[in-house]
Amino acid sequence: MTLYLLLILAYFIGAIPTGVILTRLIGNHDIRNTGSGNIGATNVYRIAGRKLGIVTLFGDCLKGVVPLLIAQHGFHLSEQGIALVALAAFIGHCYPVYLGFKGGKGVATALGIFLVLSPLSVLCVLLIFILALSIWRYISLASLSAAAAIPLPVLFFERSYPLFVTALIIVAIVIWRHRANIERLRNGTESKFKV
Ligand code: G3P
Repeated sequence: MTLYLLLILAYFIGAIPTGVILTRLIGNHDIRNTGSGNIGATNVYRIAGRKLGIVTLFGDCLKGVVPLLIAQHGFHLSEQGIALVALAAFIGHCYPVYLGFKGGKGVATALGIFLVLSPLSVLCVLLIFILALSIWRYISLASLSAAAAIPLPVLFFERSYPLFVTALIIVAIVIWRHRANIERLRNGTESKFKV
């Protein structure tokens, strides 16, 4: 029973559309109709500026952190239970009920999830992200490279199959959610990151 309630809570926390709320309240426009149309930090940065982009990144990241901290410290869940809570928060971000199930691409929320579950893995893939971004200048490609890399360090550092499977599922969804970016990267129309 506790696990089901935690899964519901994690989903609803994950589903909070940080970027949409911030750009409506402060930027006075709907992020879904501008730029890439994505509700995530990259598009908020692109359309509404650096500060709002960083706050969106932080907010979306927290949506992965908070449910896991509640699950880990308030309840004695198994590894499988923790993995399910992580997935519920992630699914909430990508398919939020508040936005007709049309959400973000999952990178920032996955960052929050793995910061709690496997900080050393985050360190590894952060290096990959920075390297990829400095070479290619595409946030999407850097995000995809970092995401694709995370299952291996998770397995290596955590030695946990539930967490490894969670990482694989998250990677698959992140890649699926980036299919428009992949198409743009293939035909050369993806926008490069400008500082
Ligand atoms: O995490 C999203 C990022 O990888 C791409 O964002 O707005 O360029 O589609 P965007």
